[in-house]
Amino acid sequence: MAKNFKDEVLSRRTFAIISHPDAGKTTLTEKLLLFGGAIRDAGTVKAKKTGKFATSDWMEIEKQRGISVTSSVMQFDYQGFRVNILDTPGHQDFSEDTYRTLTAVDSAVMIIDSAKGIEEQTIKLFKVCRMRGIPIFTFMNKLDRQGKAPLELLAELEEVLGIESYPMNWPIGMGKEFLGIYDRFYNRIEQFRVEDGDRFVELNEDGRIVGDHSLKESPLYEQTLEEVLLLNEAGNSFSAERVAEGTLTPVFFGSALTNFGVQTFLETYLKFAPAPQARNSTAGKIDPLSEQFSGFIFKIQANMNPAHRDRIAFLRVCSGKFERGMSVNLARTGKQIKLAQSTRFMADDRSTVDEAVSGDIVGLYDPGTYQIGDTLTGGKEVFQYDSLPQFTPELFVRVTAKNVMKQKHFHKGIQQLVQEGAIQLFKTVKTDEYLLGAVGQLQFEVFEYRMKAEYNVDVVMERLGSKIARWLENEELDENLSSSRSLLVRDRFDRYVFLFENDFALRWFQDKNPHIKLYNPMDGSNP
Ligand code: G4P
Repeated sequence: MAKNFKDEVLSRRTFAIISHPDAGKTTLTEKLLLFGGAIRDAGTVKAKKTGKFATSDWMEIEKQRGISVTSSVMQFDYQGFRVNILDTPGHQDFSEDTYRTLTAVDSAVMIIDSAKGIEEQTIKLFKVCRMRGIPIFTFMNKLDRQGKAPLELLAELEEVLGIESYPMNWPIGMGKEFLGIYDRFYNRIEQFRVEDGDRFVELNEDGRIVGDHSLKESPLYEQTLEEVLLLNEAGNSFSAERVAEGTLTPVFFGSALTNFGVQTFLETYLKFAPAPQARNSTAGKIDPLSEQFSGFIFKIQANMNPAHRDRIAFLRVCSGKFERGMSVNLARTGKQIKLAQSTRFMADDRSTVDEAVSGDIVGLYDPGTYQIGDTLTGGKEVFQYDSLPQFTPELFVRVTAKNVMKQKHFHKGIQQLVQEGAIQLFKTVKTDEYLLGAVGQLQFEVFEYRMKAEYNVDVVMERLGSKIARWLENEELDENLSSSRSLLVRDRFDRYVFLFENDFALRWFQDKNPHIKLYNPMDGSNP
């Protein structure tokens, strides 16, 4: 490595994009990669998404559905920074892995379709970022189309997500009348559909264009000045500290498809996005600049190569330097492991990684050694990072083995897949039926596929639909409170969980049983 260790670490920026499907995540990612020179052709990421990509490495299930289960990591260099973008799969492939990916990043970029505003999946992913207190940068996309009024979008951020915002720039018109953005941060106007040389118009101290300019003839220009004045007087003030603690989100307007405002966004993002952050462990906070190597596994990808049953474990490096071939300690078992096979993920292929530092993601060959949340450490001191948060499943199925003779394999398969974090297991009280919980339908399909492929068991899954899962603070409970509308189950740690039919059933239950304290781990209310 050309830079010294410290500079290498400080140059890392590791983030994920959170959005609802179709907001423009793929389009924006592709533009960012083009700036970084990580891909040459627009269409590479898109091709991957739509399944036109080489499928040799992909799970069978991916091929069948033409979607990507792979949550890959894309890396590029820009202005001295090394940027790692972790993909957060959406659509039907939304799963707990999507949430877990957010535990491995230092910041998040939230893309919002300006016509649709804040949508369901964005809210879910936002909650996880909030739980972790990471900085969130907002990109209001598709300004080349008619959308909601910008002030309305800011109001949604506060009302729906409960986060305050600071618009770094402000759109001048939108849709057919989109003229560009008034950049409050750089005190300039960036014009839409204007050649590079003339694109930027500098502003004077009062934030106005000096001398003659065609923009001045547009009533939209005056309107924008008025709106910006309003923001200056009545809006939040910018605070780098509040951005860093995740309580203020800088907002950028633009259009990913036409590549407008993306470069400005990237450059400003890099100014304020945090370098790798210290993490809590059993040995206290671990400084990313400390020499001792450490990292944790946040995701395990099964069967990336259908010819093998091997898996890839995704390791987030948290301190020290990863070197291929190094020996590390796996805290959970206390065993030494030699990290001989490692992979780095790129936009268009995978390549071997020899060295990596904090903030980087390394793919480790996994013959079945790792579990999600595992900590690896080099050197003498062995410690463990805080366990990964629990995510509340929303979809449930009742599961049995098709062939009763296969019970042993069935139980073994379930135990292992549950431990690995592929799916959550619950048992009904008294009747001891197996229920599986997931945050996305794909988890069930992957479960079914892997039970067959890896344990040779056909499973029968009976859909129970969506339920509201709430854990209990009380240890003691009358199990007769279980009913079809508020089903009582135990999780794999034997803790009670109620599965409510809907919001109404939840409220009704709470009214009837005020002494029972329920909580949702994803509200950060885990006692
Ligand atoms: P996703 O990964 O978040 O699901 O979204 P993706 O980038 O695939 O974008 C979803 C759709 O929105 C695509 O159109 C894409 O071209 C369009 N889009 C993205 N950014 C912008 C933008 O800034 N302005 C406009 N007008 N459209 C945008 P599609 O018709 O679904 O796909 P395609 O036919 O373009 O491939």
